[in-house]
Amino acid sequence: MNFEGKVAIVTGAAAMLGSAIVRAFVKAGVQVLAVDIDAARGEALAVELGSRCRFIACDIASDAALDALVADALASERRIDFLINNAVVYGDNGLEASRGEWLHALDVNLVSGALLVQKTADALAAQGGAVVNMGSVGGKFGTANRALYPAAKAAILQLTRNQAASLAHRRVRVNSVSPGWTWSDALSRMSGGDRAHADRMAAPMHPLGRAGDGDDVAQVVLFLCSDAARFVTGADIPVDGGFSMLGPDQGRSARDWFGG
Ligand SMILES: NC(=O)c1ccc[n+]([C@@H]2O[C@H](COP(=O)([O-])OP(=O)(O)OC[C@H]3O[C@@H](n4cnc5c(N)ncnc54)[C@H](O)[C@@H]3O)[C@@H](O)[C@H]2O)c1
Repeated sequence: MNFEGKVAIVTGAAAMLGSAIVRAFVKAGVQVLAVDIDAARGEALAVELGSRCRFIACDIASDAALDALVADALASERRIDFLINNAVVYGDNGLEASRGEWLHALDVNLVSGALLVQKTADALAAQGGAVVNMGSVGGKFGTANRALYPAAKAAILQLTRNQAASLAHRRVRVNSVSPGWTWSDALSRMSGGDRAHADRMAAPMHPLGRAGDGDDVAQVVLFLCSDAARFVTGADIPVDGGFSMLGPDQGRSARDWFGG
């Protein structure tokens, strides 16, 4: 995997999972434009990682901000090889959500990434580049009391196929990765910062026996951007420790459930 001279835009880069993607790309030699609405955290990441990472404060739900982001990337780096659509908002009132809440969730989680693909398509095509959209196990199964986030994540898997089909003739590959529970700000909050507790809670749903790490996800994102994945497009790769291979029987046969 030779990434020297390549340039990536990563959205939602300031939080734990996004920053794990940024770190993996920087380590691989990619010049990373780390994009987030959280300027304090994004700046701190850029300071930590040095010249291979530049933070750009940007609300991806603003067309003007997206235009400025792409113009900035092309003015400073002269190219865009990879786009990682990772930013998200989790707010989800399920069946009680208002129209405004629906539109905001879909705007950030689905539409903004789609528009960023549109706005970077020419630059990506010039390099034979790659897009990775972030899916989730949350977009593949029913979950009570949620609707906005899962609907957006399910739509991303379909959108990925449409984008891949639309851009294949321009040599741009578009894929998604779908993490299971991943050690992140949300999981850290829910577990009181106790990783062992998070792993114990995750184990029954993730046959590999733990929650994922940000770097587990980042390595697959990196692979999808690499030349090793040069013939892969329109695909979704689960990075979920086996979560999505199981049905409600949790991988146990009826005989097993009956105890015989
Ligand atoms: N954490 C998990 O267990 C998990 C599981 C499956 C999928 N995912 C996916 O991984 C990705 C990252 O998730 P996470 O858990 O790190 O989320 P997070 O909420 O911790 O981080 C999301 C980042 O997006 C940024 N953001 C939000 N709105 C923005 C906007 N309008 N403009 C720019 N940036 C904005 C936030 O500031 C934050 O830094 C998401 O796409 C999520 O769906 C996460």
